[in-house]
Amino acid sequence: MENKIEQIKKEAIECINNAQNSKMLEEVKNKYLSRNSEINNLKKGLKDLPNEQKPVIGALLNSVSNELNNLFEEKNNYFYKKELDERLLKEKIDVTLDGEYIPQGHVHPLTQTVNEIVEIFNHLGFSLINPQYSPEVEVEKYNFDMLNFPKEHPAKDMQDTFYCEGAENVILRSQTSNSQVRQMLNSRPPIKVISPGRVYRNESVSARKNNLFHQIEGLYVDKNVTMAQLKGVLNEFIRLYFGSSRPTRYRSSFFPFTEPSVEIDVQCIMCQGKGCSVCSKTGWLEILGAGMVDPNVLKGVDIDPDVYSGFAFGMGVERLTMLKYAVDDIRLFFNNDERFLKQF
Ligand code: DAH
Repeated sequence: MENKIEQIKKEAIECINNAQNSKMLEEVKNKYLSRNSEINNLKKGLKDLPNEQKPVIGALLNSVSNELNNLFEEKNNYFYKKELDERLLKEKIDVTLDGEYIPQGHVHPLTQTVNEIVEIFNHLGFSLINPQYSPEVEVEKYNFDMLNFPKEHPAKDMQDTFYCEGAENVILRSQTSNSQVRQMLNSRPPIKVISPGRVYRNESVSARKNNLFHQIEGLYVDKNVTMAQLKGVLNEFIRLYFGSSRPTRYRSSFFPFTEPSVEIDVQCIMCQGKGCSVCSKTGWLEILGAGMVDPNVLKGVDIDPDVYSGFAFGMGVERLTMLKYAVDDIRLFFNNDERFLKQF
């Protein structure tokens, strides 16, 4: 029996010495010191030994397992330290190295303009429309008919407006003015809202035109709303958006849903009014249409034009962004070329 124990001890010590790393050592430990190990089984068999052998073998087994435990412990500490040192060396970082450049995204220039304009109009007392009243997919009735467009108006032509196949009278809205109708059908004056969104036109794409673009619509309906107020609000908007130095002019115009109607031009930023290809040699660029809400439109939404009046306006977001930052091609906003976007 003693010999057998000595033999196990010898074997175990050899294995401990041969272990190359903590993982191998762990395996050796499982083999020689776990509950199913040979030594432990011998301990369990002590009770069957003759009485006089019990204390001798028992003491021997205890001393062997203590000795082996100590050896394991010692070698384990050695491996722990060695492996930690190796890892620290391998994972060492040089804090003096330059950091890695992580590019950061930002808000698209058109969205920046929309946010800025909405903020200006909030400041002037307009609140953001409930988006439910400003859908991009619209019926002709709200995009045209209720805005006083005659049945045969050329804007309704297939060439200008995108019609949905298979759904009669459903279109992609050609203007944010549809939101005027929905707002007035769903609320009573005083109404003072601003409505930004995408619009669509079936036109050929060029440096000045895209078939998707953005507009911001404004509507103010109350008692005694006047053209003078319209001018006051829009002049203040232009002053806040461009700064006071930008020359502007009002031109009389026509829209089916406003009477009288105006268009506002801002001096071309590319040529400072001298005339260039961007402004078709006129020195001016149109930024918005506006006017007093036509009494017919008010009647159509059951607002009495003898009691109430209103003004409305619609502006092009791309135009306004181009004018502020001297961007000469509208397509740049939609190509997602980082070299362009990074500049904002
Ligand atoms: N919806 C017009 C367009 O897309 C712009 C416009 C003109 C909007 C006059 C208005 C307005 O609200 O009063 O050309």
